[in-house]
Amino acid sequence: MVERTTFSDLLARRLSRRKLMADGGRLLTAASASTFGCSVRSAPDSPSFKRIEASSADRVVVPEGYTVDVVLRWGDPIFEGAAALDAERVPDGATLQPGASAAQGRQFGFNCDGMGLFAMSGGRALVCVNHEFPSPDLMFPGWSEARQTRSRADFVRRHAECVPVMQAAVGLSVVELGHVGAWRPEFGSRFNRRITAHTAMEFSGPARGHRLLAAPPGEPPVMGTLGNCAAGTTPWGTYVTAEENVGDYFGNMGAAAISAELGLAYERFGPRIRESNYRWEFADSRFDVAVRPSECLKYGWIVELDPFDASQPIKKRTALGRFKHEGATTVLAGDGRAVVYMGDDEAGAHFYKFVSARRFEPDSPDRNRDLLDEGTLYVARLAADGSGEWLPLVWGQHPELGAAQGFGSQADVVIRCREAAERLGATGLDRPEDVAVNPLTQRVYLACTQNNGADEAKDLDALAANPRTPNPHGHILEFIESNDDAAATSFRWEVFVLAGDPAADRLHAAPLTRPEGPLAAGETYFAGFDDAVELSAFANPDNLGFDGFGNLWIVTDGTQPGGVNNGCFVCPTQGPNRGAVRQFMSGPVGAEVCGCTISEDGHTLFLTLQHPGSGGSVEAPRSHWPDGGTAVARPSLVAIEPGAAGARVGV
Ligand code: FEO
Ligand code: CA
Ligand code: CA
Repeated sequence: MVERTTFSDLLARRLSRRKLMADGGRLLTAASASTFGCSVRSAPDSPSFKRIEASSADRVVVPEGYTVDVVLRWGDPIFEGAAALDAERVPDGATLQPGASAAQGRQFGFNCDGMGLFAMSGGRALVCVNHEFPSPDLMFPGWSEARQTRSRADFVRRHAECVPVMQAAVGLSVVELGHVGAWRPEFGSRFNRRITAHTAMEFSGPARGHRLLAAPPGEPPVMGTLGNCAAGTTPWGTYVTAEENVGDYFGNMGAAAISAELGLAYERFGPRIRESNYRWEFADSRFDVAVRPSECLKYGWIVELDPFDASQPIKKRTALGRFKHEGATTVLAGDGRAVVYMGDDEAGAHFYKFVSARRFEPDSPDRNRDLLDEGTLYVARLAADGSGEWLPLVWGQHPELGAAQGFGSQADVVIRCREAAERLGATGLDRPEDVAVNPLTQRVYLACTQNNGADEAKDLDALAANPRTPNPHGHILEFIESNDDAAATSFRWEVFVLAGDPAADRLHAAPLTRPEGPLAAGETYFAGFDDAVELSAFANPDNLGFDGFGNLWIVTDGTQPGGVNNGCFVCPTQGPNRGAVRQFMSGPVGAEVCGCTISEDGHTLFLTLQHPGSGGSVEAPRSHWPDGGTAVARPSLVAIEPGAAGARVGV
């Protein structure tokens, strides 16, 4: 039997390389976003903060004794000498002026979402933050009116700067943070980078070189990354980010000549038939499907970058499949192979994992660089009896994945990943989103955010895994891999939490197994915890994380019970308080809460607040967070810390 090396051991070895190349100092860790603070310690019964009440206030609410610090806002410069966005002047058209896109390219982007934290020496850290999509209603005066008058294409034609601004506002930000009293950007850091809709990158893995992914002469293989939702870090110190709703960026497919092969590739995940969400196609023909039929296929992948080494190419790892990637949570199997868990955020879509062919080699960093190019992609099938198996999505290995079905190679399997999963009988889930792995138990948690779809005839297996129809509040599934080994091909699973308001609705105390029919939307279950008074209501779990005590941190995106704001919640996953969900934080009006990463020392919880003020516009704002007054709302990265030096968040 292979002796199990702890994650911390592996990180420590990996970091000896970082010590040399990164900043000449001692780097502390590059823990996974979902397995932060992974040293083993006995878990307290329950986090000890005084839980907050749900809130509708236009501010970030945290428990007594905690502080909230806004670290980076949309439009904040991240380079020495870069201009700052004047948020007071956005209603006057500041973001539509010539030069606004160049300025945005040197500033923190819009709609921050997933993040990765890489600790550095001297208490500093490098943070990677995704900017999932632009919200033109909240960025440009006049867009909202153009929406109402169905003239957004005209708006784009009239305002030449608006599409370049949006293209510079998406992608990612890489920013070094120092901590002197509070986390602040280090403007002079050589690591600071903006990655946008134009940044050159490459393909790797089985679909590299596929004819549908060919670039025109003189162009890089791929330009930019889009729809970057949740994310993760790897044991070898890289950042992996998930391209999700990329079809929103491409329009005019109705007028395009789509080959039969491309039609199959787009069948379950493709561009808009008419106008795209952001109307980029009216200013940039790359996003016009009639001009570039297969361009959209270059998005919808897992993207890996080395935040400490900008000379390394950024790669779209095609071995991990193309779908609406929600996140990428990487752990090591017992034998050292890398395992990446991934959700596909669509109602009825699937839960995947990739297992690398080779082992992570802590002493040979260069051999880890392309670990995610060779291996096996699996999709989960959950049976009603609580068992489950990982089905290999391997070309030719199953009759459904062969030439008779038009799969000519593994490239076709990863490009038509959703179809391949369906052909193997994978279990459709209620919008599977982010995944987190408990560092103490290796159990795996998957957020299924909601499914308001009409009742479809579900078989017993699908019904067990998605027990409510409709499911407006979402649920969390818990998986135990066979032998607690992430590379296993079978598992046990159960519903961990069926979210909602346990005080208002029925709270189940017994595990939800083998239902004979759908549960009602209001029925709830909190891992067997049966005291409704002690529970915080919540809905629509989206991103998940763990602290070093094995507590599950949950952030939400959607309509909360009582119509209150989205928030951050935490619960133990073991012991007498297993499932006792308590609210830790409430976000500003209209924002979803994302990020959810705890620093290595356990002292700081980083959250990103995406689209504060959504549902409003520049002219009719619903939020002025974080600046207050008349300023437009700004998506921001915040740091939440306990008042006492050295204290750990939540404890
Ligand atoms: Fe970008 Fe599935 O949330
Ligand atoms: Ca999400
Ligand atoms: Ca979301």
